Amino acid sequence: MEPLEQLAEALRRRLIARAREGEGVGLGGSTLVEEVRELVDAEVPALPEGERVSLCARVVRLATGLGPLEPLLADPGVDEVMVNGPGDVYVERAGRLERTALSFGSEADLMHSIERVLAPLGRRVDEASPLCDARLPDGSRVNVVIPPLALDGACLTIRKFRTSGFSLDELVANGTLPDALADFLAGCVAARAAVLVSGGTGSGKTTTLGALSGAIPDGERIVTIEDAAELQLRQHHVIRLESRPANVEGRGEVTIRQLVRNALRMRPDRIVVGEVRGGEALDMLMALNTGHEGSLTTVHANSPEDALRRIETLALMAGLGLPHAAVREQVASALDLVVHQARLPDGSRRIERVAEVVRAPGGAATRELYRLRRGKPFWRPPGGGELAARLGPVGAAA
Ligand SMILES: Nc1ncnc2c1ncn2[C@@H]1O[C@H](COP(=O)(O)OP(=O)(O)O)[C@@H](O)[C@H]1O
Ligand SMILES: [Mg+2]
Repeated sequence: MEPLEQLAEALRRRLIARAREGEGVGLGGSTLVEEVRELVDAEVPALPEGERVSLCARVVRLATGLGPLEPLLADPGVDEVMVNGPGDVYVERAGRLERTALSFGSEADLMHSIERVLAPLGRRVDEASPLCDARLPDGSRVNVVIPPLALDGACLTIRKFRTSGFSLDELVANGTLPDALADFLAGCVAARAAVLVSGGTGSGKTTTLGALSGAIPDGERIVTIEDAAELQLRQHHVIRLESRPANVEGRGEVTIRQLVRNALRMRPDRIVVGEVRGGEALDMLMALNTGHEGSLTTVHANSPEDALRRIETLALMAGLGLPHAAVREQVASALDLVVHQARLPDGSRRIERVAEVVRAPGGAATRELYRLRRGKPFWRPPGGGELAARLGPVGAAA
């Protein structure tokens, strides 16, 4: 390394240390240039002015941003950036994966970029804690896995924050669901039906959850609970809660489940949980069955039936000792509607099935209301469960 480069590297480390201590400037902060100039002046006062200026420029380049990823992050057409080791960068554009020609100079360059992203957030990855999930100041979500867990080099996944979520109308416009189904679902949400959105990863569950939440009438008090805040509700009276992982010493974790329990003490009209993947399933079911109607959430599942089974399993695991039959009963009486969404091979998203939750001898079962068969919608009005009563004669005729 030439001396100038060494100096730049030393300064970069100091900037990261300062950012970690909360003194530094955030990513892209406007005072970064001044801060670097200060550091350079203090460290190498003897350097001629010309070299000092070029040193500053170099440190700023090293200390900010994501190097080769910058153009991707600035590109509004890119929804997700995926780095699989230094040589492999993929993006998702309009729902499709594309391999880019970009790469990092070396594994060390990639690790520097990762450090630069995490340091201002007070997070880090190292051999002892090689996994990290974080949210950037602009709302984008970042996940990092480094070796030895990642076998072919550090992986960085950035899901960019859309400045505005999709509304139901926008989902209709891009073909995710037909107009009539959007009206029906909005009517169900307004009538305080408990709706579960199911689908695979990236199928658009959170997006649909956000769009459905738009049908909650103004004036209701909404509490949203997420692992990483993604939902953007249009209503004014919204309280957003975000869970927290344990810190480096393994302390301070606050789970979705704790937040759900806490939310019940906040006089919510509606609780919207980004995704159910643990014991919170049981608390949501109990809340729904004790007067907190109309809550909305998502679950990772392959079908509406699978979604109910997943909720049942998660609730059973949380309430060890609860008889299976009791949990099934909770599921049957708590949930009203399952909306199942898929991501098609061409990258588009479709709501493929909508089913109402009905009581069956074994517990909860689904009764299909809507299905896309070879591109053609198949409809049936609700009738087998509590949904029809909730909607009244108008909604049921939809
Ligand atoms: N209906 C849709 N039409 C087009 N793009 C969508 C749609 N739903 C989601 N997306 C895009 O797909 C990505 C994943 O969506 P998200 O709702 O977070 O999925 P999930 O919660 O199922 O993992 C996001 O980048 C989002 O902008
Ligand atoms: Mg999601």
